[in-house]
Amino acid sequence: MIQVNENFLKLQAGYLFPEIGRRVRAFAAANPNAKIIRLGIGDVTEPLPPAIIQAMHKAVDDMASGETFKGYGPEQGYDFLINAIIENDYKSRGVSLDTDEVFVSDGSKCDTGNFQEILGVANRIAVTDPVYPVYVDTNVMAGRTGEYDQAKSQYGKIVYMPCNADNNFVPALPSEPVDIIYLCYPNNPTGAVATKAELAKWVAWAKANKAIILFDAAYESFISDPAIPHSIYEIDGAKDVAVEFRSYSKTAGFTGLRCAFTVVPKTVKAYTSSGKEVAINPIWSRRHTTKFNGASYISQAAAAAVYSPQGKKEVRQIIDIYMNNAAVIRKSLSALGYSVYGGVNAPYIWLKTPGGLTSWQFFDKLLGEINVVGTPGSGFGPSGEGYFRLSAFGKPENVIEAMERFKKLKF
Ligand code: MLT
Repeated sequence: MIQVNENFLKLQAGYLFPEIGRRVRAFAAANPNAKIIRLGIGDVTEPLPPAIIQAMHKAVDDMASGETFKGYGPEQGYDFLINAIIENDYKSRGVSLDTDEVFVSDGSKCDTGNFQEILGVANRIAVTDPVYPVYVDTNVMAGRTGEYDQAKSQYGKIVYMPCNADNNFVPALPSEPVDIIYLCYPNNPTGAVATKAELAKWVAWAKANKAIILFDAAYESFISDPAIPHSIYEIDGAKDVAVEFRSYSKTAGFTGLRCAFTVVPKTVKAYTSSGKEVAINPIWSRRHTTKFNGASYISQAAAAAVYSPQGKKEVRQIIDIYMNNAAVIRKSLSALGYSVYGGVNAPYIWLKTPGGLTSWQFFDKLLGEINVVGTPGSGFGPSGEGYFRLSAFGKPENVIEAMERFKKLKF
């Protein structure tokens, strides 16, 4: 008799963003004249900039000629992109990496979701609360849901680290033993950032406790404060304990194109059940090259163009559009008396729901009364209850219009 993987039955009913999409579609069907403004899922609204389009056109032409046609590429990514990544994203910040430490992929959602697969099921996972749901759901799928592991004499489980205004949305160090720590800064969903000193504490803790940090830096390009680190490897010793995820989705508008990368330094170690130290870089390489045939040549050519002088300039202009939106949202909501967080070094604004409304009550109120879509904070974890996320990814005129409509909300 075929058996189902029962871990999947332990997941919450639906993934957050499809659920929001379902509710918005139902509302739109019932209210066909409503002009809905979507500031929910963080999806880019500006088209790809010309330097990137030009690189893609050239890549398409390459595919059209027998001389330059590309079949399967290297699973780990083309050298032209990996070298550009190392040079621009890391060397420029004093971090040296070897080419076999960078793994190009088709997205950070997949990478952050898949990485746990090479780590033991009995590991204890620490996540911030609120948290990007992918980290939690993929660990539930893997079975880290509290069952006892005889060999390791421990439970694979998920430990939530509450983040709130009191700790500036950067959690305290774990008060119980954990083995894998997911950190995301600039943070999705709260828009908070972590200072070098804060990250240094985590690196030291991970070293002392033989733990690994999975650091999601998908939003690093939105940092404007020069004191805030863009990479965890700017912290001394991080290359011994941290894996870093980066994405072109938000940086350069690749949500529909797909390209990202993960850095796995050869110095990061995990342990066998008998305590033997093992480097995880070759294990991730084995997994990546077995399960993945490489991001498309066209996407990688587009990603490489992000690092050309013209590409850098054009990408910066788009980021500025989104960060202006963030400033408009922050200013408008603060003036209306909302408690507002984030939105300065990150494209997300995190606000306290007014009048004691739950996150979903506020979602329904915004959609129903002013036709604006956001994301309920409780969808990101228990500590997100009573909060709400607005995304700065939107057309500036829509963001201004949404802020005008906020003035009309009745309490
Ligand atoms: C979000 O809105 O949190 C993100 O767009 C989701 C994602 O990157 O997968």
